[in-house]
Amino acid sequence: MPVRTNDIFEDVVAKFSKDCNAFVTKFMDGQSSGSLPIAMGPTLRNFPGNWREKFVAVSGDKSQMPLIVEIGCHSGHTLCDMAEAHPESLFVGVDITFKRVVQTAERARDRGLKNVFVVLANAGGLKDLFAAKEVSGFVTFFPDPWKKIRHAHNRLYSSNFCSTLWDQLGSGGFLWLKTDHLPYFTDACSLVDRSGFQETAVLPVFGDTDYSSFFLRRFELQGLPWYSRKWTKFHA
Ligand SMILES: C[S@@+](CC[C@H](N)C(=O)[O-])C[C@H]1O[C@@H](n2cnc3c(N)ncnc32)[C@H](O)[C@@H]1O
Repeated sequence: MPVRTNDIFEDVVAKFSKDCNAFVTKFMDGQSSGSLPIAMGPTLRNFPGNWREKFVAVSGDKSQMPLIVEIGCHSGHTLCDMAEAHPESLFVGVDITFKRVVQTAERARDRGLKNVFVVLANAGGLKDLFAAKEVSGFVTFFPDPWKKIRHAHNRLYSSNFCSTLWDQLGSGGFLWLKTDHLPYFTDACSLVDRSGFQETAVLPVFGDTDYSSFFLRRFELQGLPWYSRKWTKFHA
């Protein structure tokens, strides 16, 4: 069940029964009991600017830890691989469906990862989710390409999206895009380049390590090409 509203603080569950879908029930129980590292709607109101404090099970000085956000985390394969390899960093997954957010949080819990938090939100409301310069890196692997021209307005990448990323990234922050859709890749790269980002081969935190994803494995199995580009925000 996808969340369509761009108002990330809207109480979407208030509109339907908690028991209408098993993942809605799991989500609400996990959020209220704290048994899953998840949040949505009104609960998110005090998150912007305080994100690092939300990782309650992580010890040490969290104010100095990189905060990396994956938009469209699906069922959490990539997010958990990254979080497992980088216990010194904090990882936030964002997705639009209850099922995928719950699956990501359960995967993190089952793998014993304390440095993962998952948000149910439409990335159309991203500007309200993080404070200026709060984020260290954004990962966007295989965003829905919306191939038909009449659907292109639904695409994740737009000039507004790029300027939100720029505002929310601290100096030295990064952006990583992968997609199988060449026209989308070309358009997105040009939007990012025009927003002031500079292409880079090596990222902070990840270095030159590559990461796979659920969709990437699918495309590889079908022998289909895919494209990847990384950028850094060199200037504050
Ligand atoms: C094609 S899948 C890619 C999943 C994953 N990143 C991968 O590479 O395997 C796109 C993902 O983005 C999520 N998504 C689509 N639109 C979104 C939006 N507006 N905000 C947040 N997530 C979104 C979908 O639910 C889905 O999990």
